[in-house]
Amino acid sequence: MRILLTGGAGFIGRHVHAQLLADGHEVRVLDSLRPDVHQTKPAVDNLIVADIRDGEAVDRALVGVDAVVHLAAKVGLGVDLDDMDDYVSSNSLGTAVLLRRLGRRKVRRLVYASSMVVYGEGHYECDRHGEVAPGPRRIEDLDAGQFEPPCPICGEPLRPGLVTEDAPTDPRNTYAASKLNGEHLAAAWAREAGGRVAAMRFHNVYGPGMPRNTPYAGVAAIFRSALARGEAPTVFEDGLQRRDFVHVSDVAAAVSTAAVADHPQFAAYNVGSGTVRTIGDLAGELSRAYGGLDPVITGDYRLGDVRHITASSDRLRAHLGWKPGYDLTTGIADLLRH
Ligand code: UD1
Repeated sequence: MRILLTGGAGFIGRHVHAQLLADGHEVRVLDSLRPDVHQTKPAVDNLIVADIRDGEAVDRALVGVDAVVHLAAKVGLGVDLDDMDDYVSSNSLGTAVLLRRLGRRKVRRLVYASSMVVYGEGHYECDRHGEVAPGPRRIEDLDAGQFEPPCPICGEPLRPGLVTEDAPTDPRNTYAASKLNGEHLAAAWAREAGGRVAAMRFHNVYGPGMPRNTPYAGVAAIFRSALARGEAPTVFEDGLQRRDFVHVSDVAAAVSTAAVADHPQFAAYNVGSGTVRTIGDLAGELSRAYGGLDPVITGDYRLGDVRHITASSDRLRAHLGWKPGYDLTTGIADLLRH
């Protein structure tokens, strides 16, 4: 197929590009090379440098295309509220500009990069009240070092569980809200244009080429940079917050599989390794593998963070036959090699 890959010069995009080529597709890349992400111009074949909000450039890029993989976005949690309009403009408006042109060019297939953060705190169980959805964590609790969200009914501790794609969404920060909005827009496009969209809800992606030293770097890159400076990784909260770290090559394989899959008109897929780890575990494993200082647990917190993000990626395995090739130990070794 001929595929337009937006955001193809970014961290995940470059791996997706390589995977799509390896799977026999012809790939055209559209990327704005945002200066806050790209300090130098990367070497990317078949690259059109244009912003996703530039409708005319998008329209031209779509000529002859069979499918679009839409990764172009402003990522990360954000620095502060001043980022809000940029997130909405880059992510929500950017997706709308693309979808409108897809309709015009009669492109019917879209793979959309979404995120696990659309679930907010996700699924928890209370011994007395069963499944509950805790609200946002209170500043007073966080300041007091109470990081676990309590049962919204009785205030007792909860057990986090794995959310499936059918769980209610509950975005807790601007980025999450903009990513979910993109899903909704894509679903509307699919219905009206007779298109097909796979919304890939990525867990925490890591691997070679991760952005470092930018406000939008993920925690594995931040820890790695600290170790390279001879410093200890600094772990927020109590280090027991849970995430699923998925290697970028596995993500690229999932995206390429979804681009040709026979799935429903709107299909959401959680994309994770299937193994939940704590941030403290990640810091410890990275320090040991690097031979660096032991992590320091600071007790600091970021207000937009959710406590645990743990979802099941079984649907992706069952429907698309995808399975991850990396566990965290082999993935960390790969990250440190590059
Ligand atoms: C990450 C992605 C987001 C993606 C989501 C999917 C980034 C920047 N964010 O969000 O785009 O949609 O996964 O699940 O890649 N932490 C520390 N020390 C630090 C920095 C962070 O302990 O120096 C902790 C944070 O408090 C948080 C955890 O590490 O609990 C993960 O943080 P981060 O890597 O920023 O990712 P998410 O917020 O999970």
